[in-house]
Amino acid sequence: AVFQLLKEIGTTATNSNTSVFLIGGIVRDIILGRPNDDIDIVVEGDGIGFSHQLVKDYGGEVKTHEDFGTATWTHPTGLKIDITSSRLEYYDHPAALPDVEHSTLKEDLYRRDFTINAMAICLDQKKFGHLVDPFQGKTHLEEKTIKVLYNLSFIEDPTRILRAARFETRFQFSMDDHTKELALISIDKMKALSATRINHELEKLFTEDYPSQALKRLFELQFWQQFGIQGSHLTQCFTHGQRLEEFYKNKHSYKTLDQKPSWFMYFLIPFYYENDLKGAQRFALTKKDNKLLKEISDLKAQDPWKHSSDMGELHQLLKPYSAESIVFFITNELRDDERVLNYLQARENLPTYLTGEDLKNSGLKPGPLFSSVLLDLEIAVLNDQVQTKEQAFKWLH
Ligand code: CTP
Repeated sequence: AVFQLLKEIGTTATNSNTSVFLIGGIVRDIILGRPNDDIDIVVEGDGIGFSHQLVKDYGGEVKTHEDFGTATWTHPTGLKIDITSSRLEYYDHPAALPDVEHSTLKEDLYRRDFTINAMAICLDQKKFGHLVDPFQGKTHLEEKTIKVLYNLSFIEDPTRILRAARFETRFQFSMDDHTKELALISIDKMKALSATRINHELEKLFTEDYPSQALKRLFELQFWQQFGIQGSHLTQCFTHGQRLEEFYKNKHSYKTLDQKPSWFMYFLIPFYYENDLKGAQRFALTKKDNKLLKEISDLKAQDPWKHSSDMGELHQLLKPYSAESIVFFITNELRDDERVLNYLQARENLPTYLTGEDLKNSGLKPGPLFSSVLLDLEIAVLNDQVQTKEQAFKWLH
């Protein structure tokens, strides 16, 4: 579908005498043979006018942002195409130098983060598929290397260091020595960024396939150290991250757990080992992050549940906590402790023998007493003292 669409764009480009290029991450992914339907194109000239032409030719809808000269075209198939405009080209010697790379396109590419992301593919019919690669991006893809385009790249945008770590993890590539050196020189600029910007990048990083590898890499890049975390915790953090990853991949059959841990769990690991969960507070931006942070802090401080073996007692202590937070401890401190694993299973399958309505009918007044009675009943059920509805009524009376 994407290929067909690119052909269509090329036809419109040729008919309207405009040069159009596919640009950004999708070019890298086409070369790598990886799926990507994030389609970005750059139009030499009037991108907005071009987007209206696309609607005339193929239908769909367009949203324009006049101030920026950009548009988003939604194709009838639902695919979205982001369109930007670049200045028109004027060639001094178009005939003499037919293959000279378009200079504003080259400038656009040069402003980007890494050489592997700084390639374009021509979509015009005559040159459809022609790769524009002024900075050896394709070679660096083959060499599995992440390389910045200019020395100030990380200073201008420190989030690119996190992007570099993301591409390293995703593709199993590495930065070249020079790029890594530049990252280390610029890493302290990270402290000046808002939590929103950092979180946005970290969320993407820790949702990639090997989050614990990324966690470790950020130690090597001195990222955590900018937030008061010592490098000596690297091994503990890496191991914990790996165990968490493995738990979700291999052992997890819990209804109350998602397929992957929240990215914020990986984020909390270094703060946990630094005994400074408070240090993570300014990054807990959502309600869910705040809840996880509070739960982990409380569970860490609260020792008895780590030693109790009685199901009912565990429930008394752990009922308020999410399975996700509990698993955080199971995967490391408690080393896949069967006792807590069994408790989590049992908790998910806890039958409800009595409802609030039953309590009301038995003459109890609704209020805090209700939840405390229901908790006591759950404890009795987990300890096998109550196994049927009748027994539950008996127990109540
Ligand atoms: N880009 C950049 N600097 C940034 C963010 C983005 O130079 N801080 C450029 C890169 O050329 C990138 C393009 O903008 O390829 C599009 O950005 P984005 O969609 O975020 O990145 P992708 O490379 O497409 O990454 P992903 O595959 O994860 O979507």
